[in-house]
Amino acid sequence: MLYQDFLTNQKRLIHKVTHYFPVYERYFNKFVNQSVIFWEIGVFQGGSLQMWKRYLGPFATIVGIDINPDCKNFEEHQIHVRIGNQTDTTFLRSVIDEFGAPDIILDDGSHIMSDVCATFQYMYDKVSKNGVYIVEDLHTAYWDEYGGGLKREGSFIELCKDLMDSINARHNGLPRAFADATFSMSVYDSVVAFEKKEWREETYHVQMTPSTVFAQLFFYIDEQYGEERSLTETVLVKDNQYKVAFDVLGYAGSGGKLPMMKEIRFDPAAEPITFTITESKVIYSNGGSQHLKITFSNAEMSESGRYTFHHNDPILIFDSSEVDFTSVEHICFSGIIETLN
Ligand SMILES: C[S@@+](CC[C@H](N)C(=O)[O-])C[C@H]1O[C@@H](n2cnc3c(N)ncnc32)[C@H](O)[C@@H]1O
Repeated sequence: MLYQDFLTNQKRLIHKVTHYFPVYERYFNKFVNQSVIFWEIGVFQGGSLQMWKRYLGPFATIVGIDINPDCKNFEEHQIHVRIGNQTDTTFLRSVIDEFGAPDIILDDGSHIMSDVCATFQYMYDKVSKNGVYIVEDLHTAYWDEYGGGLKREGSFIELCKDLMDSINARHNGLPRAFADATFSMSVYDSVVAFEKKEWREETYHVQMTPSTVFAQLFFYIDEQYGEERSLTETVLVKDNQYKVAFDVLGYAGSGGKLPMMKEIRFDPAAEPITFTITESKVIYSNGGSQHLKITFSNAEMSESGRYTFHHNDPILIFDSSEVDFTSVEHICFSGIIETLN
């Protein structure tokens, strides 16, 4: 355990705050015994570099960065020290070129806000795609002599507040680079930790799982499918069988009346499923009703009223030409969904 190692350390001096240890273990644990490239900015007496070596194991490459040339003395097997300023991008580039992209960066360097921000802004996208970036001792973000202060422009904490918007760039129109490279950012007392992950188009995918079998209806109006959904009730009847009922009470913007529809798309959440239709009808405003003749496309019909759907090919179409939509108030479907997986 890393904390135990720190408490019983008899080697070089380590300068850490004890409550950082649960944070370190949370983010660094997955790199133990891996071929990890670990950068610590700020070497001081070299003790923390030795601790990372002991913790991460024999495949780790530990790279210490410090402005003080004396730190070069702390090199040993697996531990490399490079002397330079953490804000010097030419120097940082040379260290990347020498060792490869870091998997972990721990910034324990000058703790001056402009330095911390500059290093992060240059190095964050250089960290490997499943890597981790941690900045510690961020109490200095509130200390005047380090360029900090509560809500003071230019502090790393203020930058993080902006990054909270950036991590949600898929939903607010901001540039996507940070969101596309980041899984999480977590704020602790004096520490901020970033976990990277590569997002691709298919990463963001809304999906319901088979255990909550559910299906949606989409209305095809004006040559496109609307987003609005019917009310749906799903009841587990036995094992993998669910009874579903769609009761379309009205369409948003239609003033409570259903507009003319050509077709409805049925979108089951589970894949594949069979759907046995037990009832399908329209109910008119005068209380009358009419059986809906349903035809499906992209579904295999195995027997009357029993259809097999595959989630990525889920289109159900019903022919509405016989329905007078000017006076339809409800459309009802009900049946049994059975998951086949
Ligand atoms: C808090 S100490 C590091 C402690 C060490 N990581 C440990 O846990 O034992 C900070 C170190 O950052 C170095 N430092 C200060 N300003 C720097 C800068 N601009 N670039 C790189 N290193 C810097 C100092 O020389 C000092 O050794």
